[in-house]
Amino acid sequence: MKIVSVVSLKGGTGKTTVAMSLAVAAEADGQSVLLIGLEDYRLEVDLDRWAKTRGNATPAVRACRAEELEDEIAWAKQCGFDLVILDVCCGFIPVTAAVGLADFVLIPTRVASLDVSGAVPAVNLVREARKPSAVVVTFYYPAEARELQEMGLEQTADICPVRMQLREQYVLSYRAGRSIAEFDPEGGGAAEVEELYRYIKLRLAGEPGFLSAA
Ligand SMILES: Nc1ncnc2c1ncn2[C@@H]1O[C@H](COP(=O)(O)OP(=O)(O)OP(=O)(O)O)[C@@H](O)[C@H]1O
Ligand SMILES: [Mg+2]
Repeated sequence: MKIVSVVSLKGGTGKTTVAMSLAVAAEADGQSVLLIGLEDYRLEVDLDRWAKTRGNATPAVRACRAEELEDEIAWAKQCGFDLVILDVCCGFIPVTAAVGLADFVLIPTRVASLDVSGAVPAVNLVREARKPSAVVVTFYYPAEARELQEMGLEQTADICPVRMQLREQYVLSYRAGRSIAEFDPEGGGAAEVEELYRYIKLRLAGEPGFLSAA
């Protein structure tokens, strides 16, 4: 069983959207997936609402607190899940717990400079834990290309080659209890999620990131 943790130390960077999109992509690839909302003081209401609207039995969706995570993971192993995706709330304790158990860590980040402040501490934390990881740029639109380059994030982190663009279909699909790929299978969002999933699958299989290979 592999564990992918989706973390940031800033809210609203697209963690839940990325986590549920990847969970559905992994299922389409034949994997049995458990999606866990890791919360510090409340249940992961966003994932919960999505799962209720969705009405499907899969992917399985649960919520727990950082101190319950090890037991939750042991339970997931017993159940025979292939992949656990952790949608982690912003907070040092839950992020540290989720990084510690992860096989791969994904750090969604918006380009807007204020949001980088959430990515850099998460990147540092993941590096200290020596975990394979990558930053994925979210809410991206082409006019941000220059700003992204100027941020110089690639000096300290692997950046996913695929960017999650700013698309209203992410919002609409969430409201419909679907992933973007289910909601608009022929659209660009479905293609970028599929590409992100393939990238993570390779990294989980041991392919080094650009920085770790250097
Ligand atoms: N690429 C995108 N384009 C447009 N809207 C997006 C995109 N990604 C996410 N959203 C929307 O932005 C909002 C915030 O996204 P999301 O809930 O995934 O962020 P989060 O990091 O999980 O937030 P929180 O820190 O509150 O848990 C949601 O309404 C979501 O549908
Ligand atoms: Mg969230």
